Amino acid sequence: MVEDHSRRVNNNIVVLREFDPSKDCEVVEDVERRCEVGPAASCPSSPTSSATQFAEFVAELVGEEEEEKEVVGMIRGCIKTVTCGKKLSRNGKNVTHHNKNDDVLDDTLKPLPVYTKLAYILGLRVSPSHRRMGIGLKLVHRVEEWFRENGAEYSYMATDNDNKASINLFIDKCGYSKFRTPAILVNPVFAHRVKLSSSVDVIKLSPPTPSPSTASDSPPLSSSPATLTPSSTTASPCIWNCKDIYTLEVRGASCVKRTLAKTTRIVDRALPWLRLPSVPELFRPFGFHFLYGLGGSGPRAEKFLKALCGHAHNLAKERGCGVVATEVSSREPLRLGIPHWKRLSCDEDLWCIKRLGEDYSDGSVGDWTKSAPGMSIFVDPREV
Ligand SMILES: CC(C)(COP(=O)(O)OP(=O)(O)OC[C@H]1O[C@@H](n2cnc3c(N)ncnc32)[C@H](O)[C@@H]1OP(=O)(O)O)[C@@H](O)C(=O)NCCC(=O)NCCS
Repeated sequence: MVEDHSRRVNNNIVVLREFDPSKDCEVVEDVERRCEVGPAASCPSSPTSSATQFAEFVAELVGEEEEEKEVVGMIRGCIKTVTCGKKLSRNGKNVTHHNKNDDVLDDTLKPLPVYTKLAYILGLRVSPSHRRMGIGLKLVHRVEEWFRENGAEYSYMATDNDNKASINLFIDKCGYSKFRTPAILVNPVFAHRVKLSSSVDVIKLSPPTPSPSTASDSPPLSSSPATLTPSSTTASPCIWNCKDIYTLEVRGASCVKRTLAKTTRIVDRALPWLRLPSVPELFRPFGFHFLYGLGGSGPRAEKFLKALCGHAHNLAKERGCGVVATEVSSREPLRLGIPHWKRLSCDEDLWCIKRLGEDYSDGSVGDWTKSAPGMSIFVDPREV
């Protein structure tokens, strides 16, 4: 059955159609500007990997005259393969070997990852003048339809913990439930270099080999970030420099705040040995370093991670980035070792999840949406 993707608003019809990069970039950017939130659309290059399926839809208001058209909303969806748990398998192949007498020779059970197709929703925006008309709901239904057509088993989205409109839409109207509440930790890049502990060696490792899937709660990565680790390998974040792909900008700060921030930078640059916590240039487009795949163990892991964050800061300074950011699980004990400014960070990001169907790849995992959170999370930097 083909679903009707149109809806009547006043005398106009809202039609949902696929995003067309040849004509929609400007109008979509205009809706984003009016929404006063971050970018939603993929104009012109989206940093998604080839392993990720991707679709984007717009809601267009069509008037009585055919040429009266206005884009009033958009949504983007991606599907990737991730692990969602482990199952025990004999010899890794579910094969049992027998001797001549038919005795079982090797029945060692080995844990093997279970893969699932996970979809995620990004960049849902509805123009402020067209809200509460059911357009957001319609866009979510459209992208979920695409998820199902492409075999996704779960769908998730992330939003600010205080975004009432988005939470009501997804939880009350679309059947999502709260899944995880990670923290986004952001540290400014100062005009001075951060001093690193002399007892920690920082070693650059080769980029990890792309794999179909990396960890629970985790998307796969195909980019090649630098990996850093101290000599005892008890802590190891990967660094992704986003500067070449996209930039951020803080808007709406008063002249006084901008001047104060500039003054701290001038003083910090002139007297770097004072190590003043200067405010970086965030009021013009700036790049950032994103740390992901944070991990570590042992009594000094926190200290090591702090040193690694300092190293990431110094690299970010060399490359002209404005901040170093990371996203960690609410239960991650290592977060204490991650320097950040509270004002720039978000204590609780909210991830919501939903099962898209009943036909699951592996019954032993059960319902992933009800699984207990792990200690660490692995955030795909391309989704930041
Ligand atoms: C969130 C957003 C997409 C909703 O779009 P919309 O077209 O207004 O949503 P709908 O009209 O389809 O509303 C569907 C339901 O969502 C909830 N909802 C929407 N706006 C709401 C609001 N301002 N306050 C409380 N609940 C709200 C309601 O449950 C609503 O159902 P109801 O109208 O029967 O009460 C829109 O407000 C928006 O673009 N916000 C800015 C960007 C954003 O936050 N995006 C989400 C990021 S994940």
